[in-house]
Amino acid sequence: MKVLIHSDAAQAVSCVTGLMLDRMQRQPASVLGLATGATMEAVYEQLIAAQVAGQISFSRATSFNLDEYVGLSPTHPGSYWRYMQHHLFDHIDMPVERAHLPRGDAADPAAEAARYEAAIVAAGDIGFQLLGLGSNGHIGFNEPTSSLASLTRIKTLTRSTREANSRYYDRLEDVPRLAITMGIGTIMRAQEVVLLAYGAAKAKAVAALIEGPLSAACPASILQMHRNVTVVIDEAAAAMLTLRAYYDEVHPKGGAALL
Ligand code: F6R
Repeated sequence: MKVLIHSDAAQAVSCVTGLMLDRMQRQPASVLGLATGATMEAVYEQLIAAQVAGQISFSRATSFNLDEYVGLSPTHPGSYWRYMQHHLFDHIDMPVERAHLPRGDAADPAAEAARYEAAIVAAGDIGFQLLGLGSNGHIGFNEPTSSLASLTRIKTLTRSTREANSRYYDRLEDVPRLAITMGIGTIMRAQEVVLLAYGAAKAKAVAALIEGPLSAACPASILQMHRNVTVVIDEAAAAMLTLRAYYDEVHPKGGAALL
């Protein structure tokens, strides 16, 4: 696991964008695993800017988002389809038929989850998986106690996750209770995983992810078993790490490794 600690959130965001640009430049036909949430907004802004500047094209890329709320159609203002259109898809040259999210409004959500998993497998699995981190240690919507081998399925969201994601809703009761999420096993098949987290609210989960025991109590801790994972954080999110001096020695200021 590479642990890259940057002085602030802006530097951490630029680092993740840089890793993604590098991947896209090397492999323009990449299969991207995408996340939603506040953390990713700045990353998507920078990706759009990079495309406008001619540094990359998404015209040969395919994407699969991590999750979608059960019961919401793509046009619902709180849906992750809407989020992705607003923050990325409407501004890049990726053909819309190659941008995938689970259908939250499917008549049979369990069958939709199985179809989504099969579509990821048929695409050859995710090449570059972008992840955020829940303050309770979730990745995608794999909440604590999720099976560490799970595939795409329906999960019940914790109250803390619904509170954290309530900004698009008038009342907490309106935030959906269920989501279709890629499973932890699905995420672990990705060739490369890059997780971005910043801010003090993520410090405890970051410490559990990097240094804690491998446990379903912190689903992100499974990333300790991934062969190609980079965790990009800022000072505030790094505050509870005990091996901080070591990470700084290997990657000074979150930069290239000193070998
Ligand atoms: C959403 C997702 C979630 C978020 C996490 C952090 O697609 O996968 O795991 O990444 O809840 O959310 P923010 O960035 O809003 O703190």
